[in-house]
Formats: sequence, C-alpha cells, structure tokens
Amino acid sequence: MATDTPAAPAPADVQVVRATVHDAEGIHRLVNFWAAQGQMLPRTLGETYENLRDFFVVRDGSGQVIGCAALHITWSDLAELKSLAVQESQQSRGAGAALVRACVEEGRTLGLERLFALTYRPGFFERLGWAQADVMNLPRKVWNECYRCPKFPGCDEIAMVIDLATPAGD
Ligand SMILES: CC(C)(COP(=O)(O)OP(=O)(O)OC[C@H]1O[C@@H](n2cnc3c(N)ncnc32)[C@H](O)[C@@H]1OP(=O)(O)O)[C@@H](O)C(=O)NCCC(=O)NCCS
Repeated sequence: MATDTPAAPAPADVQVVRATVHDAEGIHRLVNFWAAQGQMLPRTLGETYENLRDFFVVRDGSGQVIGCAALHITWSDLAELKSLAVQESQQSRGAGAALVRACVEEGRTLGLERLFALTYRPGFFERLGWAQADVMNLPRKVWNECYRCPKFPGCDEIAMVIDLATPAGD
C-alpha cells in the first residue's frame, strides 16, 4: 500500500516541460545509461523520436536533459509511465517526483482511469501515492515490450499503479 509520507515539492529551478526534438538525444543518452545498469529497458534513438510526444523532460541551465519520463497510452483506461530517469548527479532534488506528477496530471487530462509503472523502486512511487499491484491483474497488452528485455522471461520488476479517479490533492 502507498505510504502517507508526501514527497516534497520540487524546487523552483526544476521545471517539467514537454520534450522537443532537441531533447531526443539527451533522453536517449539518459535512458540508455540506466538501461546499461539494468534499471530500465533500452531505447533506440529512432524509438525515442517516434515516441517523443509521450515525453516530459527536465533540463539544466544550459538546456541539457537531466531528467525524463514518458506516459504511453495502453488502452482506453490505462497508460504506462515509462523511461523515468534522472541523471545521477542531479538526483534527490525533486526532478523524479516532478516528472511523475506531470505524467499523473497528463493522465487525468487525458481522461485515463489508471496508470501503471514497472519498477525496481517501489518505495519511490509509494511516496507519490502509487501502490503495488499484482502484475497478473494488469492486461496482457502491458507485456508487449517484455520480449525485448534482457531479463525476459524472468521479470523481477514490481508493478505500481495509481488510480486517477480520485481528484488531485485528495
Ligand atoms: C528513481 C529516480 C527517477 C528518482 O529521481 P530523483 O530525481 O532522485 O527523485 P526525487 O528527487 O524526486 O526523489 C528522490 C527521493 O526518492 C528516494 N528514493 C529513491 N528510490 C527510492 C526507493 N526505491 N524507495 C524509497 N525512496 C526512494 C530518494 O532516497 C530520495 O529521497 P530524499 O528526497 O529523502 O533524498 C532516479 O533515482 C533514477 O533515475 N533512477 C534510475 C532509473 C530508475 O530506476 N528509474 C525508475 C524506473 S521506473
């Protein structure tokens, strides 16, 4: 279950914005840095461009991507938060939480009922109001990318969900 401990709001210099084509290489670099450490699925640059409209980013003062996350619609009521990554040297400043919140807000705007994420960081998501879920209760379509994962079929990621039926702030 989700904890009651709210994550602190992001500092003013952590601004989440929609990605542009100029961010694609930075997103690609960041995601594949963490993918090489087994924390997430790798992405090709081509995939990054094709899915660019799913992405939010946080940039540093020089415009470089230091954080990213994507919200990818799975079905009428469900979307996946994926490719959540923050540069190692920029962590614990609220960028990760701000990116997750942007995806949640986007999910509400889109009229989605629920978001899910597959992660090795359940505690991080719990602090943001997400709860652990049984992966078997997620639709099979959720697994459409799993065959590309080096760990397939021995998946050890934890499924996290958030119900968007509850208005923000409740
Ligand atoms: C997870 C990640 C995105 C968080 O980014 P971030 O910018 O550091 O996030 P925030 O600053 O908003 O929050 C960091 C806080 O979450 C905490 N946290 C991180 N992982 C956690 C976990 N597994 N359980 C509980 N808390 C966790 C940190 O300790 C930190 O706490 P603090 O604020 O008290 O110092 C980042 O660590 C990352 O990119 N990790 C590698 C890639 C990854 O695992 N992505 C998630 C795939 S779904």
